[in-house]
Amino acid sequence: MKDIVLVTWASSGIWQATAIKLAEKWYKNIIIHYYKNGKWIKKTEDKLKDLWAKPFVVQWNIWKYSDIDDFMEKIVDKYWTIDIVINNAWELGPYNNLEEINMDEQEDLMRTNLFWPIYISQKVVNILKKQNKKWHILFTSSIHWNPDKWWEEKCIPYCISKAWINNLVWIWARNLSPDIRINAIAPWIVETPIWDEDTEEEKQYFIGRTLIKKWISPEKIAKGFLFLIKNEAITWEVLYINGGFRP
Ligand SMILES: NC(=O)c1ccc[n+]([C@@H]2O[C@H](COP(=O)([O-])OP(=O)(O)OC[C@H]3O[C@@H](n4cnc5c(N)ncnc54)[C@H](OP(=O)(O)O)[C@@H]3O)[C@@H](O)[C@H]2O)c1
Repeated sequence: MKDIVLVTWASSGIWQATAIKLAEKWYKNIIIHYYKNGKWIKKTEDKLKDLWAKPFVVQWNIWKYSDIDDFMEKIVDKYWTIDIVINNAWELGPYNNLEEINMDEQEDLMRTNLFWPIYISQKVVNILKKQNKKWHILFTSSIHWNPDKWWEEKCIPYCISKAWINNLVWIWARNLSPDIRINAIAPWIVETPIWDEDTEEEKQYFIGRTLIKKWISPEKIAKGFLFLIKNEAITWEVLYINGGFRP
């Protein structure tokens, strides 16, 4: 597969599993980004090499937009293009009630969850629109985006950031069609390191809210990304992979 894929935050969890899944399916040119976790990204890199892929590891700081500008220049020099972007960063807290949320914390969250993915998507769109080709941007939303299904009393900014991501998908998919497809996956609890410190009772509560009565593995979400990538009829879609989550 000649497509050039960029997977951001590929040092663990869903995005690491997605980079690996794509390499298993013969996507060989995979750019993997990390911010802090150099030791873990090495694991992703080694795994991709075992699968005969050619990973290109990049690091940038989400607080510095200029890092992303430099990165984009490097990518254009090395590959000329990007075909698929798997995008997002995330923060869950602050967990206070709405009326108590500290604005600095809220700004941090919005910058991580929203502004940064918007910035990188903008850069990619601006470069690639000139190239007159078909390509695809994917985001990671969450079941938390939808107040009809689930609304956390705590972590309200997180819920809002995911609703915003979905709206970005729906608006951009229209605006950038037909050349660019935009989709997202909205998971319920996925077994990634974020939950390592939760108690057994909390974990059982998460599992108990699903119909499948088990954790969703990162690989299941990775398979969802692969499905969206492969099916060129899908755009403007937020795909739930939530184990039959019931509020
Ligand atoms: N896990 C779930 O249960 C779940 C459920 C619904 C939605 N989601 C969504 O799925 C996406 C991926 O989740 P995940 O559980 O796979 O992620 P993860 O394994 O916790 O994190 C993946 C990487 O993201 C970076 N990262 C994580 N938190 C960060 C923060 N606060 N600030 C900066 N960097 C951070 C780290 O990379 P570096 O090493 O580069 O710093 C980390 O290795 C997120 O958008 C999340 O909202 C997850």
